[in-house]
Amino acid sequence: MIKFPKDFEWGTATASYQIEGGFHEGGRTDGIWDRFTRIPGNIADGTNGDIACDFYHHYEEDLKLAGEAGLQVYRFSISWSRVLPDGTGAVNREGIDFYKKVIAKIHENGMKAAVTMYHWDLPQCLQDRGGWMNREILEWFREYVNVLYAELGESVDYWITENEPFCTSILGYWTGEHAPGFHDYSMALLAVHHLMLAHGVAVKEYRKTGLKAEIGITLNLNRVYPATDDPKDVEAAARLDMQSNALFCDPVFKGCYPRELFDYLVEQGVTVPEIREEDAELLGNKIDFLGINMYETHYAIYDKESWPYQAREVKTGRPITDANWQVTPEGMTEILEFAYENYHPEKIIVTENGAACNDWLQENGKVEDTNRIEFLHQYIKAVGKAIEEGIPVKGYYVWCFCDNFEWAYGLARRFGMVYVDYKTQKRYPKESLHWYSRVIAANEIE
Ligand code: FCB
Repeated sequence: MIKFPKDFEWGTATASYQIEGGFHEGGRTDGIWDRFTRIPGNIADGTNGDIACDFYHHYEEDLKLAGEAGLQVYRFSISWSRVLPDGTGAVNREGIDFYKKVIAKIHENGMKAAVTMYHWDLPQCLQDRGGWMNREILEWFREYVNVLYAELGESVDYWITENEPFCTSILGYWTGEHAPGFHDYSMALLAVHHLMLAHGVAVKEYRKTGLKAEIGITLNLNRVYPATDDPKDVEAAARLDMQSNALFCDPVFKGCYPRELFDYLVEQGVTVPEIREEDAELLGNKIDFLGINMYETHYAIYDKESWPYQAREVKTGRPITDANWQVTPEGMTEILEFAYENYHPEKIIVTENGAACNDWLQENGKVEDTNRIEFLHQYIKAVGKAIEEGIPVKGYYVWCFCDNFEWAYGLARRFGMVYVDYKTQKRYPKESLHWYSRVIAANEIE
């Protein structure tokens, strides 16, 4: 039996484009995902987030359900283009009011509100001006976050500047799997730098407001281990490991980028971003907590053809979820150890963890997602183990509350603890939600 500390917080995580819908309602303009999902071939099942699970119209019902399940924190993100339809300038009252109502409902249902300011849905009008390639984005982001601090500052319990800058940069600008869908590694690195600076801007501006809630960033961290003990594979995996972890943790905690990695990339012909003198002050701004999203440990081998790292990820025969991600609960403990030992964050929150499963709705309205329960059980135990080792993990959020739009995979990939029938928008709590409720109530796990 693992007991969790009294002040440990159990929650769930969501994101605007994935759940809200209402894409052309309430003054919202297009974001980069509205554009990206329209291009044939980008989304596996051809769906998009126009409606998704329609949180825009169902938030009262969803938040009531979350409160009744005993959840303590509800994490959601703000759609930039709902709040600032032109990216900058005039504030859309209707957009702000929507988020005020959401936060009020979160509190009314006994939960805390964790707000992600950037979860990948850049306004398309800002993409048209260069998006994360244009350093002016630091000013755009400064304006946007200040609107949020001024309008919502009194009621937000946790601020998260950005979600998974790895995905925005590497998947958005290198592999092209995510919006805006480019394929240029030098661009991806420039995006990394601007994302890290924008995070610094958000923290710096926040401290000026005198608001007391905690602020942090969410990184998707996972170790990349060699799939064999061949020295070439060991070196190759170490390079990918740096890309996954040090590339994002070093700027946040040390105010610089991993030299070894940048030197290697220069040798490969990558243009690394120019770091200006004034950048040091923004990188490495002190945060109150590190958010970690963790789903799977990765394994890699040497592969001459895989530029720029000469490394390729492979599966190692472990069970996989419906997302084709390997089930590696011990990797949760390992990544928490890695983050704590190397960067000493004062506080860590696991801001996402969960599993896509092949769920189906039974005639009696039940969804018996025992595989998800088993997954969560193993990973929560792994979090407990890290806490027993003295690592200050203070919260754990399941991705996701309801089934929703899973980016390049579309609506078909179900991650929720609540099943959504997309035709009727009816919600059906899955067995995992009941199970999670019991874990929360007991604050311990077998
Ligand atoms: C993470 C994202 C989140 C969700 C989960 C499954 O990478 O932050 O939006 O898609 O994966």
